[in-house]
Amino acid sequence: MSDTRIGFGLYGAGLVAPFHAKALQASSKAKLVAVAGRSPDKVGKLTAEFGCRGYASLEEMLADPAVQVVNILTPNDLHFDAVIACAKAGRHVLVEKPPAVTLRETDAMAQACREAGVKLGVVLQCRVRQPIQAMKAAIAQGRFGRIYHADAFMKWYRAEDYYLMNPWRSSRRAGAGVTVQHAFHYIDLLQYLVGPVQRVTARMSNLAHPRVELEDTLLALVDYANGAQGVVEASTALWPGTDLRIEINGENGTAIMVGEHMEVWKFKEERPEDEGIRQLGDASQATGATGPAALGFQDHQVVIDDMVDAIREGRDPCIPVESVRPTLEWALAMYLSAKEGTAVTLPLVDEDAVW
Ligand SMILES: NC(=O)c1ccc[n+]([C@@H]2O[C@H](COP(=O)([O-])OP(=O)(O)OC[C@H]3O[C@@H](n4cnc5c(N)ncnc54)[C@H](O)[C@@H]3O)[C@@H](O)[C@H]2O)c1
Repeated sequence: MSDTRIGFGLYGAGLVAPFHAKALQASSKAKLVAVAGRSPDKVGKLTAEFGCRGYASLEEMLADPAVQVVNILTPNDLHFDAVIACAKAGRHVLVEKPPAVTLRETDAMAQACREAGVKLGVVLQCRVRQPIQAMKAAIAQGRFGRIYHADAFMKWYRAEDYYLMNPWRSSRRAGAGVTVQHAFHYIDLLQYLVGPVQRVTARMSNLAHPRVELEDTLLALVDYANGAQGVVEASTALWPGTDLRIEINGENGTAIMVGEHMEVWKFKEERPEDEGIRQLGDASQATGATGPAALGFQDHQVVIDDMVDAIREGRDPCIPVESVRPTLEWALAMYLSAKEGTAVTLPLVDEDAVW
C-alpha cells in the first residue's frame, strides 16, 4: 500500500524539537522526513533517533521535495525570516509560539503565506486541550451567562541555567521573558476564550534570576471588551513550580482547568454531559510547571494532524496566525504598561514604543 502520510521537516534542533519528532512518529497522517539546524551534533542526534534526513540549513531542506510542511523551531526572533523562506518555496508552515516578536512581522508573514497559497498555523497546543474546548463550547452556548472573571495563574519554576543555556533565552529583543515566552500560551487561552482585551495594567519584575535582564514575573489586571475582568499571574521564579490554572467565572457557572485537567465544572443548570466533562484531561500529565522537559507531545500531535487535514480539506489550520495576532498585541501592551507604569488601551497604536 502506498504511503499517503504528508512529509514534515523540522527547522531547529533544540529543546522543543524532540516533542515535534515524537508527535510525528506517533501520527498516522504525517511523517518526519528531515531535520535542519546549524548544530551538526543536535541534528545528528535527532536523525539517528528518528531515522530521518539531516540538513545543515533551511535552504538545503527546502530543496528536498519530500518536505511538504516545515515546523519552525528556532528562537522567536528568527521565525520571521524562516516563514518567509518557506512561503517562497511553496511549503506550508507550522511556526512555534510566538509566531514573531512584532505585529509588523506577524502581519507580513500572514500576507506572504496567503499570497503564496500556503497554510500558516501556530503551535499554541494548549488550545486543543479538551477542557479548553469544553470551555469554548460552553461560552459559545452562553452557559456561563455574563462572564465576570477570566484568569490565568502560571506559578512555574525555571533554574537560572535554563536562561543561560543559549543567548536568545535571556534576550528581550529575541523574544524571551516570561510574558512573551512561557505565559504566551495562557494569555492566548484567555484571548481565545474571552478576548478581545480592551485595557491592561501590568507590573513586571525579576525575583529569582539575577544574572538575567528579563522579567521572570508578570502581574496584570485585564479588562476584556465584553465587560469581564481578569488577572494574569505568571512566574518562573516560584520553586518547585505548580500546575497552571485557567479560571472562568460567570453569573451562571464556573470552570477551572488545572494543568490539562478539568478541576471544576459547575453550572446552575446541570446538563447530562457535565459529569463526562468533569473527567476531561489527564491530571497526571506534566504541563511544563517544573521544567522545560516536563511536557507531553500529544497536544503537538493534534496540531500536526490538524495541519494535514487542513491541507487535504483546503481549509485553515486550527490555530491560524491571524487568530494569534491579538495575543501578541496584548502581550506587547503588557510590556508597554509595565514600562510606562500606566494602563494601556488596545489597539496598540505604536508598537515601537514597547521597546
Ligand atoms: N509549544 C511549546 O510548548 C514550546 C515549548 C518550548 C519551546 N517552544 C518554542 O520553540 C522554539 C524553540 O525553542 P527551544 O526551547 O527549542 O529553543 P532552543 O534554543 O533549545 O533551540 C533552538 C534551535 O534553533 C537553533 N538556532 C539558534 N540560533 C540560531 C540561528 N542564529 N540560526 C539558526 N538556528 C539557530 C539552535 O541551534 C537550536 O537548534 C521557540 O519559538 C519557543 O518559543 C515552544
